Amino acid sequence: MCGIVGVVPSGVGGMDVAGFLLEALALQEYRGYDSAGIAVVDCDGGGVRRLAVSGRVAKLKEAARAGGFGGFGGGTVDAIAAGIGHTRWATHGAPTERNAHPILAGGGAAIVHNGIIENHDELRAELRGRGRRFRTQTDSEVIAHLFAEGLRAGGDSLRAMRSAAGKLRGAFAVAAIARGRGEIVCARRGSPLLVGEGEGTLFVSSDAPALGGAAKRVLHLADGDCALLRAGEKARIVSAGGRRAGRQWRQTGAARAAANLGGYRHFMKKEIAEQPQAAAAAMADFVGRTGGLRTGAFGGELLRAMRDCRSVNIVACGTSYHAAMTARYWVETLAGTPCRANVASEYRYRADPGAGGSLTVAVSQSGETADTIAAAAAAKEKGARLLAIVNESDSTLARDCGRALPMRAGMEVGVASTKAFTAQLTVLLLLALGIAKEKGTLSARVEKGIVASLRRLPELLRGSLLLEGVMRKWAGEIVSCHSGSLVIPAKAGIQTGGGGKGKAGLDSRFRGNDKVFNDGVLFIGRGGHYPLALEGALKLKEISYIHAEGCAAGELKHGTLALVDAHMPAVVLAPGGALAEKTAANAAEIAARGGRLYVLAAENCGARIAARKIARVDDGCEWISPIVFAPPLQLLAYYAAKIRGADIDKPRNLAKSVTVE
Ligand code: F6R
Repeated sequence: MCGIVGVVPSGVGGMDVAGFLLEALALQEYRGYDSAGIAVVDCDGGGVRRLAVSGRVAKLKEAARAGGFGGFGGGTVDAIAAGIGHTRWATHGAPTERNAHPILAGGGAAIVHNGIIENHDELRAELRGRGRRFRTQTDSEVIAHLFAEGLRAGGDSLRAMRSAAGKLRGAFAVAAIARGRGEIVCARRGSPLLVGEGEGTLFVSSDAPALGGAAKRVLHLADGDCALLRAGEKARIVSAGGRRAGRQWRQTGAARAAANLGGYRHFMKKEIAEQPQAAAAAMADFVGRTGGLRTGAFGGELLRAMRDCRSVNIVACGTSYHAAMTARYWVETLAGTPCRANVASEYRYRADPGAGGSLTVAVSQSGETADTIAAAAAAKEKGARLLAIVNESDSTLARDCGRALPMRAGMEVGVASTKAFTAQLTVLLLLALGIAKEKGTLSARVEKGIVASLRRLPELLRGSLLLEGVMRKWAGEIVSCHSGSLVIPAKAGIQTGGGGKGKAGLDSRFRGNDKVFNDGVLFIGRGGHYPLALEGALKLKEISYIHAEGCAAGELKHGTLALVDAHMPAVVLAPGGALAEKTAANAAEIAARGGRLYVLAAENCGARIAARKIARVDDGCEWISPIVFAPPLQLLAYYAAKIRGADIDKPRNLAKSVTVE
């Protein structure tokens, strides 16, 4: 999603500001965006220059090189007093060069903005009434005009920004520059923003990795803060109440290793392959070579919250929500404690009478997902104790919750979450075990069995990754049936185009070849594998753009079964255990209607499923089985997307870090 970066160099002319901004934008590309831009203030009272493109940072670099912007790519580096940059994920207005940030306003001001301004229509009308002319269709442009008006009224930058921020409704992180001023002024409410410092140079960014290690220490602005970064001075921070505020600086450890493909063609594939190590890292503190669960690793305060909670309430989005749904089975079965998994965007607006007395667990890879952050805050207001499960330990969610269990999956770059999902599941299973142990519902025998299976998890994941070849074949078949070689039955009464290209009145897919697409793939599962069916469908649709639907196997006959015909591929998740026969019966319902079954079955699944395509996996035991089943589904989606030539690591319309509501 949108990303902000800005820099005020310590000395004039000593730094390639444009080059820094362009590299910083490249480092935050993983967040997902569709246009990019930079703006700088030239030294010696110079004006503001802007460069923006629709498309990738590589295109912006090319434009900078071609135009000699800031001396980027050779020549003398321009003397620049301050600069800001932005990657935009379009919400209001198409991803055009004109709508890209930085956005200029009269008076030589430029702003970059993350978030959504909810009262932008109102503000736009007021500003128009005062003679301001709008160039873009964005909600953000009102900030640029309000800030410029504040400057024109003779206020300093900080006052102008505070006055603009005071008029905004919604979520924002914003940074601004203005003609003749060697400074950046920034503000945030409901969207993260941090200030960095390194050898006298000051930085602002929505996300620490964008600074690439240039900042030696960073501080996270609190909600409502404004900050002024001026060359040669310390960062000045003013709280929502208008007082000078001291915020805590943190040393930024070693710069995070730059994301590196390590010989893979796609980050997604690399991250799928990394799952055995990621799972091992996630459990390292809790599972030793021998013995049971090491509950000491939860820490005394969390253990008390685990013991005392009346219920467990999990909030999350997307893939993280699917992990939460699986955890529900674990917590309820092992700990005998009521557990709910909630879609965070819904939970935040719900009156939840059960929140007080609960342990509310916010699960998020990035720790920056706006809905999850807001859902955790809503639960806290109702009296819940909070715990974050995050991959990014220094994230807003981890800080807001005050307690966090790290997933330790390592940086995930591909937009489709893979290794973070299995690491989340691993940590959630450890948490369920911990709660059960604290509440005294876990027998020594069950604990020993599950912990022994967890020890084997990395090896079992390596085994399930060996299904790669089979998944590639299945993907080929699924894609070919999606891309259409299926004759429309005459009795269906669908007119075809009879070969005439461009004939009106008929969907273009049906023209010319008397063929019809099969629009969908079904994934079914039961128990802990039902959420995995949802996850398999999500993975396939988000990167291959093939429509897919996950369904609780027993729920099929209540509606979804109507979709099944001889052209419908159905992926059946068939672990062993008590529900195996039930799942087999649901698979038979699909087969009886001609559906094409692709069955992923546990080695110990004894149920008879009559299908041409069966792949077997050693899933250890029922508790860890959903974790072991995940990689083949990820590989299926990966190969479907690859065969279709999709942009696997950056699927259209999606972002890695979803910082807007
Ligand atoms: C799908 C995917 C998303 C995220 C969701 C939540 O592959 O990655 O569905 O899971 O946007 O993100 P986090 O976990 O960062 O809160």
